[in-house]
Amino acid sequence: MDSQPKSKDFEKSVPTLTRRGALCALAVVTLGLIPKPAVAASGVKVLKNGRVVLSLVTNRALSKVGGVVQIDNLNGRSIALIRTGKGKKAFTALDLRCTHEGEIVAQQGALWSCPRHGATFDLAGALKIGPANTGLRKLRVRVKAKKVVIS
Ligand code: FES
Repeated sequence: MDSQPKSKDFEKSVPTLTRRGALCALAVVTLGLIPKPAVAASGVKVLKNGRVVLSLVTNRALSKVGGVVQIDNLNGRSIALIRTGKGKKAFTALDLRCTHEGEIVAQQGALWSCPRHGATFDLAGALKIGPANTGLRKLRVRVKAKKVVIS
């Protein structure tokens, strides 16, 4: 009796590892955690000059390092604000338009992933996998008392 699986049966039994899956696993190993998914920001004001003012009081996700809030519907663009450290000014704001062809990227664990052609960026916006050639565009962030101003 042959106990060896036939090659087709063996191929079906071996799970495949996608590029995205490998990156997520790498993030878990290197960072020790996966940030919680971005939540919709609250307490947002868009000024006439285009600056976005966000309350730190109403966006509790930003109280922890790795916290992410997302602001959508800003004249066709979306931005994310990420808590990158424990310091009061440790925030990074990103324009979520993919630098390849402008699709809005989506957070997947510790990464931003483009649904159109698969470009992948780390949580701080650095390019990990093309076809994009550059990281996500960083926006200027100023922290004032309990507000963040993004421009
Ligand atoms: S538009 Fe994002 S990878 Fe092409």
